Amino acid sequence: MDEIRFEDRVVVVTGGGRGLGREYALVLAARGARVVVNDVGTGIDGRGASPSPAHAVAEEIRLLGGQAVADVHDVATVLGARALTRAAVERWGRLDGLVNNAGISIMRPLGELSDEECRRVLDTHVGGTLNMVRAVWPHMVASRYGRIVNTCSDALFGDTGLSVYAAGKGGVLGLTTSLAAEGAPYGIKANAVVPIAATRMSLEALQGDEAMTALLTDLFPARLVASVVALLAHESVPFTGELLHAAGRRVGRIFLGVTEGVLWKEDPTPESIREQLPAIRSTEAFRTPQSVSASMAFSLQQLGVGGTEPLALDLATPAPGNEHPGGPADS
Ligand SMILES: NC(=O)c1ccc[n+]([C@@H]2O[C@H](COP(=O)([O-])OP(=O)(O)OC[C@H]3O[C@@H](n4cnc5c(N)ncnc54)[C@H](O)[C@@H]3O)[C@@H](O)[C@H]2O)c1
Repeated sequence: MDEIRFEDRVVVVTGGGRGLGREYALVLAARGARVVVNDVGTGIDGRGASPSPAHAVAEEIRLLGGQAVADVHDVATVLGARALTRAAVERWGRLDGLVNNAGISIMRPLGELSDEECRRVLDTHVGGTLNMVRAVWPHMVASRYGRIVNTCSDALFGDTGLSVYAAGKGGVLGLTTSLAAEGAPYGIKANAVVPIAATRMSLEALQGDEAMTALLTDLFPARLVASVVALLAHESVPFTGELLHAAGRRVGRIFLGVTEGVLWKEDPTPESIREQLPAIRSTEAFRTPQSVSASMAFSLQQLGVGGTEPLALDLATPAPGNEHPGGPADS
């Protein structure tokens, strides 16, 4: 088996000062990467800041003979993400990989969250991931290479107390599939990990349940997730736009699928749709389209009008009269 190595590669790990991010930084550095350990050092709920976690992990890596620098910018801000990216490029002259791992959690019923708490959670997960991707993108496009690893969550499947957190991770999911499409012409691949691991965030959610705490700690050490992330961050990762479920020693795939559905000869009515719900909802036969074009082609094919050529929708070129006057207004 070819060893997964990262010599000459520069990889940024956000939220690298604790929990999962620390394990990612350690494994990437042990496998030869030059690692930027970013962490603003917040509490689980995103309040407060401390430079200690980032510096401690960078120091730990250096003591083990690896290469790392600490960075304490807040990725939830555009300026923080840009400054972090600039620091990485100035330090090592390149940027090959980005692991968007920084995260916070406020678990409470929807009606009990303040406006500011909702914003804080979304700003960290969707905002932080988007800010970092936008900051590193020009460097990756210029070098015609990039590996982006985002972080989603089982919260995507839904549960109580997780609505805003799940909305943030849903945003990251949509971003990941689209980055895969946008990055393909430039050699950029973007995937996401869906981890389960014993960290302060997950252990706090168990609220002192001793049996579950023991189970989580025994079966889901954070270091196991790092193996999945190392593969996703590596040049050899064979796919893009996908989600890997890293659950202890079990690794699986989570995907968006569309069922075969039901085709009517005449226009369906609400009543006829209700009647056919078992067949509509059945997951016995399904597809996993990898793009809007692929999903549209599947729909056309089911309707009997699809050709044999793969459909290629151009969603990036504005319609005549709708052109943007220039580049991004605030860059
Ligand atoms: N632990 C799990 O089982 C689990 C499950 C699903 C998803 N996740 C996700 O994995 C990621 C890591 O979580 P963890 O369990 O290691 O949590 P953690 O609290 O141990 O570590 C998260 C780190 O991110 C840092 N951080 C938070 N906001 C930041 C910001 N704006 N800028 C820079 N750094 C910031 C924190 O200071 C902290 O050190 C998160 O995105 C989390 O949502 C974790």
